[in-house]
Amino acid sequence: MTSGVVLKLLVCSLIGALTHGVRGGDPYLFFTWNVTYGTISPLGVPQQVILINGEFPGPDINSTTNNNIVVNVFNNLDEPFLFTWSGIQQRKNSWQDGMPGTNCPIAPGTNYTYQFQVKDQIGSYIYYPSTAMHKAAGGFGGLKVHSRPLIPIPYEEPADDYTVLIGDWYTKSHKELKGFLDSGRPLGRPEGVLINGKACKVGVKQEPMFTMEPGKTYKYRVCNVGLKASLNFRIQGHKMKLVEMEGSHTIQNVYESLDVHIGQCFTVLVTADQAPKSYYIVASTRFLKEVKTSTAIVSYTNGEGEAEAEASPELPPAPVGWGWSLNQFRTFRWNLTASAARPNPQGSYHYGAINITRTIKLVNSVSRANGKLRYGFNGVSHTDPATPLKLAEYFNMADKVFKYDVMKDEAENTTTDLTVEPNVVNMTFRNFVEIIFENQEKSMQSYQVNGYSFFAVGIEPGTWSPEKRMHYNLLDAVSRHTIQVFPKSWAAILLTFDNAGMWNIRSAKWERAYLGQQLYASILSPEKSLRDEYNIPENTQLCGIVKGLPKLPSYS
Ligand SMILES: *[C@@H]1O[C@H](CO)[C@@H](O)[C@H](O)[C@H]1NC(C)=O
Ligand SMILES: *[C@@H]1O[C@H](CO)[C@@H](O)[C@H](O)[C@H]1NC(C)=O
Ligand SMILES: *[C@@H]1O[C@H](CO)[C@@H](O)[C@H](O)[C@H]1NC(C)=O
Ligand SMILES: *[C@@H]1O[C@H](CO)[C@@H](O)[C@H](O)[C@H]1NC(C)=O
Ligand SMILES: *[C@@H]1O[C@H](CO)[C@@H](O)[C@H](O)[C@H]1NC(C)=O
Ligand SMILES: *[C@@H]1O[C@H](CO)[C@@H](O)[C@H](O)[C@H]1NC(C)=O
Ligand SMILES: *[C@@H]1O[C@H](CO)[C@@H](O)[C@H](O)[C@H]1NC(C)=O
Repeated sequence: MTSGVVLKLLVCSLIGALTHGVRGGDPYLFFTWNVTYGTISPLGVPQQVILINGEFPGPDINSTTNNNIVVNVFNNLDEPFLFTWSGIQQRKNSWQDGMPGTNCPIAPGTNYTYQFQVKDQIGSYIYYPSTAMHKAAGGFGGLKVHSRPLIPIPYEEPADDYTVLIGDWYTKSHKELKGFLDSGRPLGRPEGVLINGKACKVGVKQEPMFTMEPGKTYKYRVCNVGLKASLNFRIQGHKMKLVEMEGSHTIQNVYESLDVHIGQCFTVLVTADQAPKSYYIVASTRFLKEVKTSTAIVSYTNGEGEAEAEASPELPPAPVGWGWSLNQFRTFRWNLTASAARPNPQGSYHYGAINITRTIKLVNSVSRANGKLRYGFNGVSHTDPATPLKLAEYFNMADKVFKYDVMKDEAENTTTDLTVEPNVVNMTFRNFVEIIFENQEKSMQSYQVNGYSFFAVGIEPGTWSPEKRMHYNLLDAVSRHTIQVFPKSWAAILLTFDNAGMWNIRSAKWERAYLGQQLYASILSPEKSLRDEYNIPENTQLCGIVKGLPKLPSYS
């Protein structure tokens, strides 16, 4: 742990270094994170994990709309490292997105300070490592954005606010797992499930993870931080009222359980309205041959301490099949009358009335050529060049690092071998674009877009065709950043590419993203203006062919 003295010194020295990209006037939150290896045994076997200030999972970032967040990351691992802030829109500021295509990795033994502002995105988010297979070892944590006191939220302030990070887990080290993928082998099935870094079985005595006072209502922020498994989340004996997902206030439906796909976050309210005792919180894998389940305990307090009575060993059952999950998706609706800030500042929420200017149909591509597994979109499998794409573009050296539009908007031939090279799509600034994710495989997928919220307008079995637009929800689809795609199904999203920058679109299943199923959308504003994009921050690290180059004159 960093001592208080060190922390204060770091904070003071940083204030002078703040540059564009962070707005003055609004409050600052400073964090100093020491990223190290540690050894813990979540599944009973000692293994190497990634700690932040000694914690696994990492600390929560607790923020309020308009806060400026400054995180000084000291990389004490033996490999280059980056964090990305999943779902945080970072308007005009892909400089801080922390993907290998936007930032040079933080070299071992060095530090880098991220600076960004959270805006109009009241909700639950996560951060996690974006380099190599580091996410398999931890380094993830919760990121909350609260509403400012003046902007009411569509529910009563809960008695407390709990982060619940659920995810599948492997006992092999991140290097060993990366070795599998590098040699062309798949990751295989996860060995267990963790809830906030712990795996507990039913019937084994465990300390309560959360407590509730009888009669009070609590907020649970449930996010799937795993690598590949969709998880079902439920709380014995209790119903969950869904109030928000990925930055949008939803119609407040009540659920017995929720399917949380990789990268997704749900905020639910739970009222302690049952007999005062302990209850199991359950997270179990979905769509895998062998179900892995983990539990945690929530205990009622009785004023003096925790209630004595133990939880019943009978766990609530998980749903079966993916039809259930698709039906659940269809119940998610945006609350159009909630008065909270809109996640999409300029595009009105009358998105159904905007004409689509471009359709991109991304078909899942898989190749096992030469015995090596690769994934891609429309026949292109992305690789990260040594020079981050954003920096190559900024220094007008893109032509030396990558070609734009190697991938076509529609798959021409999904049976050909994959082209392995950087996958960068030239998006026109402010175009309203329809993206279809078509999954021709039998496995479940989940896709994530950085820098934007999109309208998740439809998911259906089968293949997509233009007539399917008649089935879109053009009224109250939830604006979010991650969408699941069921086996042999498609999902459609609509969004306005109005956030200039270089933004990653990827499979949220990390094995697939690592093996190439990702792309970057390059959105260049025709005018170089601070109105559209911030200047490159002073502390941006340069690497690859731009290493040592002087930064270009800033614009205003
Ligand atoms: C980070 O943690 C390591 C291991 O505990 C320690 O040696 C190092 O001094 C710490 N660095 C900072 C900046 O606190
Ligand atoms: C988190 O932020 C909210 C709103 O700013 C505040 O009410 C709450 O006390 C904070 N919680 C912690 C643990 O800092
Ligand atoms: C590294 O940390 C020091 C404070 O210890 C800070 O002054 C410096 O700006 C940081 N470097 C980067 C690149 O953020
Ligand atoms: C939507 O938000 C409004 C305003 O905050 C709230 O009164 C209403 O109950 C919400 N509607 C539903 C169906 O959740
Ligand atoms: C959308 O396209 C239709 C038909 O091409 C056109 O009539 C209409 O004006 C367009 N709407 C907008 C908002 O541009
Ligand atoms: C697709 O590519 C494969 C392999 O190169 C080839 O055999 C097949 O004829 C192509 N199909 C079409 C429709 O072009
Ligand atoms: C990207 O598209 C815009 C039009 O939207 C065009 O002006 C520009 O030349 C394209 N850039 C590249 C590198 O293809």
